[in-house]
Amino acid sequence: MFFNNFIAYSNLLAKDLHIMDKRTFIKSLGLLSLGAVPSAYGLERWIDMHSHISPKKLAEDETFWGGIRKGYRLKPDYINLENGYYCIQPQETLESFIQHVRDVNYQGSYYMRTVQRENKKKMVEKLAKIAGCPADELIITRNTTESLDLIIGGIHWEQGDEAVMAEQDYGAMLEMFKLVSRRHGVVNKIVSVPNHPVSDKEIVDLYASAITDKTRLLMVCHMINITGHILPVRKICDMAHSKGVQVMVDGAHAFAHINFSLSDLDCDYYGTSLHKWLSVPLGAGFLYVKKKHIPNIWPLLAEGKREDDDISQLNHTGTHPVHTDLAISNALDYYMMIGPERKEARLHYLQNYWTNQVRSLPHIILNTPEDPTRSCAIANVGIKGIKPGDLAKTLLDKYKIYTVAIDGAGVHGCRITPNVFTTPAELDVFVKALKDLG
Ligand SMILES: Cc1ncc(COP(=O)(O)O)c(C=O)c1O
Repeated sequence: MFFNNFIAYSNLLAKDLHIMDKRTFIKSLGLLSLGAVPSAYGLERWIDMHSHISPKKLAEDETFWGGIRKGYRLKPDYINLENGYYCIQPQETLESFIQHVRDVNYQGSYYMRTVQRENKKKMVEKLAKIAGCPADELIITRNTTESLDLIIGGIHWEQGDEAVMAEQDYGAMLEMFKLVSRRHGVVNKIVSVPNHPVSDKEIVDLYASAITDKTRLLMVCHMINITGHILPVRKICDMAHSKGVQVMVDGAHAFAHINFSLSDLDCDYYGTSLHKWLSVPLGAGFLYVKKKHIPNIWPLLAEGKREDDDISQLNHTGTHPVHTDLAISNALDYYMMIGPERKEARLHYLQNYWTNQVRSLPHIILNTPEDPTRSCAIANVGIKGIKPGDLAKTLLDKYKIYTVAIDGAGVHGCRITPNVFTTPAELDVFVKALKDLG
């Protein structure tokens, strides 16, 4: 495997020597003479060779991204434009994960009783550093659903308390709010976020209009999953805090997709899924809770006595797949090797590559804002007169493009989600399909 990857990178290098500058050329010679180096090392050198190019410029460099693509095993049956549910792992992370499975299986209970907890703590520390929060405010969960439902279900609700959310929020959280409404008499106030806002103020005012003196919690998506719309979270937090309301952010699609730090958002709670944009194996997420709120959340599963502000009391999981936790470190290494800025710039470029070609066509309905600060990889497109489900089916049957249909909450179209390995040539097939179907 290592050798194959090395050959892949070497081939790329050999093919492109003629367009390299002197510095790059010398570095590439170093790599070519190394022999069978581990793939991580080959990838690191490959990225290093391009480190003098700005993320924005590199975003359009198909040779560079072609090298990244070679690190993935992609199913040839279809063009995958549905990387929103789950982002597959590059082979490098996958191989590390498989090794963790082997190691834990080899050691058995010995592993579980000796270094299991210490290792998970290390993962938390590494994650917290990259997420931008103190390690004692973050726990590893299974996913966003668990993270956010721990908060929705754990708040000491009283009859008549109010919560604010949007109809474009994720179904599982909306269902959890319905549950606490039935159980504790919480009143849920639901706003509808426009697909094409004229300003941040319009969004902030929308959420502000739903707040009353009974509001306890406001839930907001960092990135709306059905449209890819990035919301002005910091401004919403500032507004809500000025009214004494806490903010819980659904960051399922934002972490390791757009480059941000939790410390800049100043939210009270943040949940995300690491099997999405960080490409951790399935079943990993995190929950951030601001220190001062930890004592006020009821744990879902009882933990032994802890200090009141010890976040671990919210994290009693029982025995779980610890090898997934271990792979978080490998996925973080991969992400940092690619570089958050480079990744965001590439994803942004890919979305603009196709949306710019179809946005003005009369039969096309784009459900994602045009303002570049309000979206990244994900965009949603509909075709006048074609139901989203039929569009998704035609794209798959006729053009071998895999997407997902969205038909609700004011959004009617297919969600299109490229990943770093997606090529403009694949997006050309999609653009042609959209033009043909008009
Ligand atoms: C906005 C949003 N929130 C939450 C979730 C739930 O994620 P998970 O199933 O990983 O818990 C998703 C899943 O796609 C999502 O898009």
